[in-house]
Amino acid sequence: MKHLTSIRELSKASAIALLDNAQQLSQVNDRDVKKLPALRGKTVVNLFFENSTRTRISFEIAAKRLSADVINFSAESSSVSKGETLKDTAQTLEALGADAIVIRHPLSGAPKNLAANNWISASVINAGDGSHEHPTQALLDALTMRQVIGSTTDLSGLKVLIVGDILHSRVARSNLLLLNLLGAEVEIAGPNSLIPEGIEELGATISNSFENSLAKKPNAVMMLRVQKERMQGEYFTSHQEYSRHWALDSERLSMLGADSMILHPGPMNRGFEISSEAADDPRSKVLQQVSNGVAVRMAVLYGCLSGGQS
Ligand code: CP
Repeated sequence: MKHLTSIRELSKASAIALLDNAQQLSQVNDRDVKKLPALRGKTVVNLFFENSTRTRISFEIAAKRLSADVINFSAESSSVSKGETLKDTAQTLEALGADAIVIRHPLSGAPKNLAANNWISASVINAGDGSHEHPTQALLDALTMRQVIGSTTDLSGLKVLIVGDILHSRVARSNLLLLNLLGAEVEIAGPNSLIPEGIEELGATISNSFENSLAKKPNAVMMLRVQKERMQGEYFTSHQEYSRHWALDSERLSMLGADSMILHPGPMNRGFEISSEAADDPRSKVLQQVSNGVAVRMAVLYGCLSGGQS
């Protein structure tokens, strides 16, 4: 693959190959010398127009572990603040030697535009675009689920419940696409105001009750952050009202099976969509997700820059 702007670009076989490569590459993180020469001589630019902790740092670590040079670009301190366009910015970065541009942008479709319009010949990797997609997040979530259930192939039959602000969530969209590709059964739950029309077409049943969904004994419960920064109006009456119906609190935690896993892409709003008790519960795989972010991004960078199949 040359680019990764959407999970739609992956077949089931190529998604599994990426997860297999990530699983293998994760072993590098346990070595004393955490380095492979695979991308020596390549330059990766992290072009972030929105804030990030996990994604930006894990792409940087991933590129460095593969011996690539890494440049971190922050839109705020760049000539973007003087009005330079995305096309001119990307072409400038390529003229400076970028082989891959990892882009996070508030506009849905910005990475696709960059890749499809042939403005640049560098690889384009989507690190989250608006409410559209976050493909490497879905891949690291799938890797975590595979590890927890001990699968080395797909996620056939796994019951996954995604809860919360689906409307603004690029994580939910990429997960819906990937989980369906890998054979999981997905239910989404949240207030009506935060369930986008037609989302079931991506392959999910919709629930209006967290308790009813928990009674079906999901294997994984993925809590989503309430994205207040993307909300123009009132989507629920109050923080307390939202938490009363949709937070993973101690009562709902007690309904979870002993072997269920709790996932959250981060950053977590503790006390809003998830209690500290749930976030720190032994069934919470939040930090395993973060660690898997490095391995998945190593596999994606290698796949895009090595000219191979996956
Ligand atoms: N999950 C995620 O995208 O986190 P960051 O915003 O910190 O990158």
